[in-house]
Amino acid sequence: RFKAVIFDLDGVLTDTAHYHYLAWKRLAESLQLPFDQAYNEQLKGIDRMGSLELILAQGRRSYTAQEKLALAEQKNQHYQTLIADMTPADLLPGAVAALQRVRAAGLGIALASVSKNAATVLERLGITGHFDYVVDAAAIARGKPDPEIFLTAAQALGVAPADCLGVEDAVAGVAAIKAAGMTALGIGHPFVLTRADVVITSLADFNLAAY
Ligand code: BG6
Ligand code: MG
Ligand code: MG
Repeated sequence: RFKAVIFDLDGVLTDTAHYHYLAWKRLAESLQLPFDQAYNEQLKGIDRMGSLELILAQGRRSYTAQEKLALAEQKNQHYQTLIADMTPADLLPGAVAALQRVRAAGLGIALASVSKNAATVLERLGITGHFDYVVDAAAIARGKPDPEIFLTAAQALGVAPADCLGVEDAVAGVAAIKAAGMTALGIGHPFVLTRADVVITSLADFNLAAY
């Protein structure tokens, strides 16, 4: 019944969500700010500067715009070190099979990641060619949970939002999909992704006909 599937990247197709966490943790520790996996949950899917604001809000001092840019750059350097050695072996179980099944069913495929490193990660994973359209994160004005990135992908594919299935591991991402008027497939735990229409543990359980 769908005409397109729009995938998130980090935490859905590969475990870069963990690398983002590690890079933020290193930055937070260098600033002596508290940071753990539970707090990280609300950072998932949030763009770089938005994530930094949430981390800095844990402390009392304020930072200038210039200081914030420098801190975001530090985090990005930690992150780029972590993704430097990625290969297709870093694809999560079921990721390529899911892309192949969507393609075989004749549906459009897009990537909706707010990460400015997304194109690099797709290349390292060897899956760039599976996508009809990859949203340019730099061209998105409002990050998730705003629907802009999913609506941009649907428009580029020439498909109505109601005919799209969005796939997300983040609370903010599921909210963006629902705000776009799409069906949301959550990857993770139903207690966390409460707004998703369906939740599966990983793409290894992906079954397009069931949603
Ligand atoms: C999202 C991740 O995909 O990209 C976030 O879920 C991350 O954790 C965001 O902060 C921005 O990534 P980048 O690579 O542009 O810093
Ligand atoms: Mg994600
Ligand atoms: Mg993402």
